Amino acid sequence: MQQAMDVSDPVCQSGRAWVDEAIRRVSADANRSADTHLIRVPLPGPWAEWGIDVYLKDESTHPTGSLKHRLARSLFLYGLCNGWIREGTTVVEASSGSTAVSEAYFAKMLGLPFVDTRTERRLSRRPVAMVAAALTVLAMGVLTYKGAVAKEAIASEVKAAVPSWAAKQGFANNKEAVAGANLFAESGCTNCHTYLGTGSSNLGAPDLSAEGAKGKGVQFQIDHLKCPSCVNPGSPMPSFKDLGQDNLHKLATFLEASKGPK
Ligand code: HEC
Repeated sequence: MQQAMDVSDPVCQSGRAWVDEAIRRVSADANRSADTHLIRVPLPGPWAEWGIDVYLKDESTHPTGSLKHRLARSLFLYGLCNGWIREGTTVVEASSGSTAVSEAYFAKMLGLPFVDTRTERRLSRRPVAMVAAALTVLAMGVLTYKGAVAKEAIASEVKAAVPSWAAKQGFANNKEAVAGANLFAESGCTNCHTYLGTGSSNLGAPDLSAEGAKGKGVQFQIDHLKCPSCVNPGSPMPSFKDLGQDNLHKLATFLEASKGPK
């Protein structure tokens, strides 16, 4: 930081005129861009009734279009009035971002050398950021595409397979088992389990086509459905106890009736 100007100094006297003119020019800029334009945004219904007004500041009307325009102007006026900025003083922008645009504008207005120490913003000089941005865009594209074409088993489609399951497994006459098969189709079980070729295999969930051949029994099935990790430690399968005892019993009957296709 330089010493403040000594006004009695003859060198200073000659610089005085330049400073006066500089202050006049910077101040004139304030008249030109006037205040930040305010744009009123009308609010709907209740807000308007509560007397709430919303205004947006339109900083784009400044000559530099930067929201730091007035800040830069104040900094220059401050520097001029304190004697830190004189004819030929090199102005260094040491912060970052949009302030530099406005500061460069005022430095040019006063014919002062201007140094911008901001880091490189040119895209071609920022390979890491560019690769990251490209990957982000690519990932969004791929995921959007996959999401759009993903084939999710719709409950009604799965349910359509129930009669053929019943026939193959031989439980068509077991009402309780058929009801359980329909619950199985509706409850999202086939998001993780496969059953006679239907559904998809996720989280390591086993195929259940022959679950009944394990001889675990209805009670085990109910206990497992209520709290999978209680009976099979570490199980990631969610609890289905909210289905209620009746439905759990139907599901269990269906599972136990699934001895594998004949
Ligand atoms: C989020 C995935 C997921 C869903 C949904 C799911 N399961 Fe499971 N299931 C698993 C996993 C993982 C296992 C293996 C661990 C275990 O045995 O708990 C499993 C195991 C099982 C077993 C074998 C238990 C044994 O020890 O023999 C049965 C039976 C079963 N699930 C039935 C069902 C039924 C019925 C539904 C729907 C009401 C269902 N699952 C929904 C993931 C799931």
